[in-house]
Amino acid sequence: MYNIAILASGSGSNAENIIRYFQSHTDIRVLEVLSNKSDAYVLERSSKLNVPVRVFNKEEFHSPEFSNRLLKEGITHVVLAGFLWLVPQHLIAAFPNRIVNIHPALLPKYGGKGMYGAKVHESVVAAGEKETGITIHLVNEEYDKGLPLLQATCGLEPGDTADSVAAKVHELEYQHFPRTIENWIIKNQS
Ligand code: GAR
Repeated sequence: MYNIAILASGSGSNAENIIRYFQSHTDIRVLEVLSNKSDAYVLERSSKLNVPVRVFNKEEFHSPEFSNRLLKEGITHVVLAGFLWLVPQHLIAAFPNRIVNIHPALLPKYGGKGMYGAKVHESVVAAGEKETGITIHLVNEEYDKGLPLLQATCGLEPGDTADSVAAKVHELEYQHFPRTIENWIIKNQS
């Protein structure tokens, strides 16, 4: 059995979608959801689906004990689903090529520190882009720089706003993220 820990900072609609996707999976399950925000809605969503949740602070996140605990719990893969902090070196070393992130744009465009959620979509609209999309990628020491596993695109219209772009991008995320995680985990092991 492969065990996922999801790290999320916000609403957690992706986390919920991933939990639901793997609920009846024979080889992969979501073991826990961790958040750096005690009031993040992702905690409520996950609890409702009977997935254990835990909140951590910056000091805990930067201590190697954080990684050791995940390993002891049997976590094999880490999924960042709307997670805001840069991942520390000890976590990358503990889970080499076993951490995946989703970014709501076509990297390398609109990535890097501070590029999160609505800010990404506002920048895309301001630039008059004709298309945007998602990038699912492995995580390394730099924001949004790890190896891409999948990109998917959606077209934009002149009337699109940051909100309408967010809705289109979320649709792509729900469609692709769980399946990409599944393929990545299974392929990694073969
Ligand atoms: C998602 O669109 C995700 O791609 C984005 O945050 C949103 C979280 O939504 N992540 C980033 O911007 C990371 N830089 P959710 O909490 O409803 O899943």
